[in-house]
Amino acid sequence: MLPIIVPSILTFPLAVLLVALALTCYVIHLQNKRKSKEEIYEDGLRTAPAPMRVPVLGHLHLLGGYEVPYQAFSYLGKKYGSVVNLQLGNVKCVVVNGQKNIREALVTKGHHFDARPNFRRYQELFSGNKENSLAFCDWSDMQKTRRDMLKVHTFPRAFTSNFSSLKGLISAGTRSIMSEIQPCETTDLKPLILKTCANVFLNHFCSRNFPMEDEMFTEMVENFDEIFYEVNQGYAADFLPFLLPLHRKNLERMSGLTHRIRRFIEEEVIGGRFEDFDVEGEPDDYVESLIKHVKSGESPQLPWETALFALEDIIGGHSAVGNFLVKLFAFLANEPEVQRRIQKEIDEVVGDREVTIADRSSLPYTEATIFEAIRLIASPIVPRVANQKSSIDGYRIEKNTVLFLNNYDLSMSEKLWDRPTEFLPERFVHSGRLVKPDHFLPFGGGRRGCMGYKIVQLVSFGILGGFLQNYTVLPVNGDPYKVPIGSLALAKDTFKFKFVRR
Ligand code: HEM
Repeated sequence: MLPIIVPSILTFPLAVLLVALALTCYVIHLQNKRKSKEEIYEDGLRTAPAPMRVPVLGHLHLLGGYEVPYQAFSYLGKKYGSVVNLQLGNVKCVVVNGQKNIREALVTKGHHFDARPNFRRYQELFSGNKENSLAFCDWSDMQKTRRDMLKVHTFPRAFTSNFSSLKGLISAGTRSIMSEIQPCETTDLKPLILKTCANVFLNHFCSRNFPMEDEMFTEMVENFDEIFYEVNQGYAADFLPFLLPLHRKNLERMSGLTHRIRRFIEEEVIGGRFEDFDVEGEPDDYVESLIKHVKSGESPQLPWETALFALEDIIGGHSAVGNFLVKLFAFLANEPEVQRRIQKEIDEVVGDREVTIADRSSLPYTEATIFEAIRLIASPIVPRVANQKSSIDGYRIEKNTVLFLNNYDLSMSEKLWDRPTEFLPERFVHSGRLVKPDHFLPFGGGRRGCMGYKIVQLVSFGILGGFLQNYTVLPVNGDPYKVPIGSLALAKDTFKFKFVRR
């Protein structure tokens, strides 16, 4: 009976609904048609083209069916041009394609596009205020100060004591992971790498170190990794907030993890240093520079809670490097010839001495391997937001528009790279020197550019160099690995490796 009853009860309301839907679609079609005709404003700026949109979703449906949404952006770029207007749910967005236009957004007009999206998920992950986050906050004097305070620690200059201490930490960390490996046995590398990177970061920024088997330390590393995975996911709910209740349980879980991390940082990492630090003294590490700023009441004032969030964000950078390194090893497991070339370069230049980060400039192929892995992963530039009315490539951008800067295309375009899908580190080496093409922008740029790129390069180089000097990496069953692209994050249970002694 049911199949008959249901239609009969629904027939009238359904018909009304269908007519209403058809009318809505028709009205939107007319609006689309009008909007897709290029309008030229009195100031000479044009409206960017936009595809047809549908009710509620806007253009969200156009992002489906791709391995990563940025492939959809490349397709839209080819079809509609350098700047494409998109309505994703209730959020006004534009996709910006092409090196010149992306540079216009990042650098030339970087001060127009220095804010970040206001997704509710970000607010909730940072105690209800995304301004607590280094990466998701809008631009402010406070953000400028936070970045200035970090520079000396995240961009250590060669020949400084900061650099040589980091060199020692990375070498010790590399030896410590290698000591845990059973040659030719299956190795779950991710937990070892994450803990080692966490200790390098905790030592470098906070002068603290934890035994690899310490349970609370292990839990902190796992908690950071889960949050890193979470912030790297794209959710339709970011654009359709009415879907957020579906994520409520997960968000509560993440909030629980952030509280546990906070407790660990306060009790195990900082301890009594806030009370003990003498404001007249010189800071010894990043923790002390934060404490000094907070206690001296320097302007702009930095509440201790905000300083703790900044510290956690930077310590959390170890998850980015750790996940990246696991992906790098997965690429290498597929590329015996690349490994041979790295080993040959190390043997010829370094010989039996231990490789360190001070060898970077004389090992261009090894260094280029890191660039090549970063290129192929093609993780997106964190979206920007227009803080004022502006333009890109002559197209008008309204205030509060979210900008997707399509660096996937810059990393993977056939016009810019020879055989872009292949792993060819030599593309970054010219006449024996490492060369970074202008269109290679994996760390964004301008006033909101990545604060960690130097540390990424140093830690990755030290660990990669040390490993390949001693081992060759193999996939566990001999089958090639498919490395996920479009994000740095990897699931907890991921690639395992076999390491064969050289
Ligand atoms: C392979 C690893 C990494 C990649 C590919 C990467 C990439 C990026 C990108 C594309 C941005 C946005 C830049 C922009 O909007 O112009 C960014 C921002 C940022 N990154 Fe990284 N990053 C990596 C690792 C790290 C690490 C290890 C740290 C910490 C030590 C870090 C700290 C930051 C911070 C603090 C920001 C926000 C800066 C701001 O908004 O003012 N990153 N990163």
